[in-house]
Amino acid sequence: MSDVDFLLQADPQFRADILEGLRGPRRAIPARWLYDERGSELFDEITRLAEYYPTRTETMLLEQCRGELAKQINPGAAVIEFGAGSATKTPLLLEAIAPSAYVPIDISGDYLRSSADILQSRFPSLDVIPIEADFTQAMTLPATLGDAERLGFFPGSTIGNFVPRSSVNLLRHMRETLEEGAKLLIGFDRIKSTDVLIPAYDDAAGVTAAFNLNLLHRINRELDGNIAVDAFVHDVRWNDMQSRIEMHLRCTRNVIFVVAGEEFAMRDGESIHTENSHKYDLRGLRLLLRSGCWTPIADYSDPKDWFTLVLAEAAPIYTAP
Ligand code: AVI
Repeated sequence: MSDVDFLLQADPQFRADILEGLRGPRRAIPARWLYDERGSELFDEITRLAEYYPTRTETMLLEQCRGELAKQINPGAAVIEFGAGSATKTPLLLEAIAPSAYVPIDISGDYLRSSADILQSRFPSLDVIPIEADFTQAMTLPATLGDAERLGFFPGSTIGNFVPRSSVNLLRHMRETLEEGAKLLIGFDRIKSTDVLIPAYDDAAGVTAAFNLNLLHRINRELDGNIAVDAFVHDVRWNDMQSRIEMHLRCTRNVIFVVAGEEFAMRDGESIHTENSHKYDLRGLRLLLRSGCWTPIADYSDPKDWFTLVLAEAAPIYTAP
């Protein structure tokens, strides 16, 4: 296979994002490219780390608020999950509210189908309708849902991986997809001490470091690159002004490398920004939801206020004074 054939096999969007992201002057690569097969495995491992509190805290909140959710959502609703369902969280919600249909939406078809199959075998009478699509865009839901009450589900604090302007667009698109009258159950990670935040993204076992550095291995493999991965380190920063954890890949010596036939030079200390994870306080997250045309109606937080699950409603929009 020639070099050209090899590069033609790569995802054109991946190629375009990586080349543009590496050109600088502020090097940044969209975080979604962290999730190839190995990246997804490493992320699964992250969710089980002692330092990574969000998954277990949100799971505990879901367990605790299921009685409340059952009061808010009638049986027979349709649950629309933005992202493929997790084996731990989604069943908790489905058991709590007994919906008639479950519609997971994810761009990764393989992951979507395997998670949909697992849920279907666990809930045989549930109508499971996976949709392979980019959930950040508005879409038409299957007509078979009829006029079933709609509940959007967006757990994991994934909203935090979007910068505020994109979060607002995403929330508005979710409203367009689910339509007026729908509800949304969404997880937010809260602002807390950096003594807790930094280790959650820079664990002692180095799993998050491997997750971040895996992006360079992916670039080398899929885009015929020769990046010296050992010249880079995982670098986690709290950006207080933007209220977010940032992951970077910092260069520890001057390097020159080639990716997809293009040459790049980076100096010692320069970095590639690979992920943001925004953290919110209660008023900030409520304002974000309202900017996205969702009215918060209830929220559930753990005793330490580390994580909050919010139930919001797509209420009619009236003229404001
Ligand atoms: C998927 N997302 C909510 C995770 C987070 O906490 O922002 C991704 C992650 N990156 C490093 N650790 C976890």
